Amino acid sequence: MAFDISPWQAPPPSLLIGTGDLHLWRFRTDISARSADSLRQSLSADECIRADRFINPLHQIQFIAARYGLRHILAGYLKCLPAAILFDYGEQGKPSLQLDNAQPLDFNLSHSGGWGLVAVTSGLAVGVDLEQIVPKDSLLQLSDYAFDMEEKGLFSAFSPARQERGFFRLWTAKEARLKMLGVGFGNMNKVVLPCFQRFFVPAKGYVAAVAIDHPVKRIIRYHDVMSR
Ligand SMILES: CC(C)(COP(=O)(O)OP(=O)(O)OC[C@H]1O[C@@H](n2cnc3c(N)ncnc32)[C@H](O)[C@@H]1OP(=O)(O)O)[C@@H](O)C(=O)NCCC(=O)NCCS
Repeated sequence: MAFDISPWQAPPPSLLIGTGDLHLWRFRTDISARSADSLRQSLSADECIRADRFINPLHQIQFIAARYGLRHILAGYLKCLPAAILFDYGEQGKPSLQLDNAQPLDFNLSHSGGWGLVAVTSGLAVGVDLEQIVPKDSLLQLSDYAFDMEEKGLFSAFSPARQERGFFRLWTAKEARLKMLGVGFGNMNKVVLPCFQRFFVPAKGYVAAVAIDHPVKRIIRYHDVMSR
């Protein structure tokens, strides 16, 4: 099915999402410690507890930036403050909006390195995965563990020069489908039924994929700017 896809652009002052639309948001998570301290004020108590568990300060900052980014983006649709958003969590940790947030919005967050990515739909299950391309010396073992028969076939068909990028393409696609279902790595080697799937490059050195269990007519890509 044909669909439109926009370039990355600044969001409009008032956000609306229609049925069949998919909004993709990218934002930086490599913010300063000072900005992270200030954004932390908008996180919930359980998010602050999670932030405090990170031993590496860089990971803590990236986590705070990602959770704040998610809240900031959702607040734009819900016309509320980022701190007012209430999350529920699925059995395997997938966050969703609590029902009293009224508007049917589904979303998924992924973050890696210095970038965060959020996919938003008007209530249709969605999964997104972002990976920074970093050299891995165990691609074959990882593909053995993570891929089903068809994916293994696709992986082994890549030439040595294209193997690394090809691996990340297949990996993000698989993870996006699993995240759409609200499950995780434990189901990595299972076959996940086909759905709308799109691979894209959100920034140099990164790859990402989005999966949604419904036809998509339009993808609009926004760039969110937070103080760094
Ligand atoms: C879902 C999962 C595959 C994502 O792993 P990842 O590639 O490291 O991380 P990503 O950046 O792509 O995604 C993380 C975000 O996905 C969301 N998420 C968490 N669990 C999810 C799930 N089961 N399905 C969909 N989305 C999920 C959260 O917003 C999370 O962000 P947060 O860590 O800031 O809360 C992984 O967490 C997983 O396998 N979870 C299953 C349950 C599990 O193993 N739990 C053990 C945790 S201690």
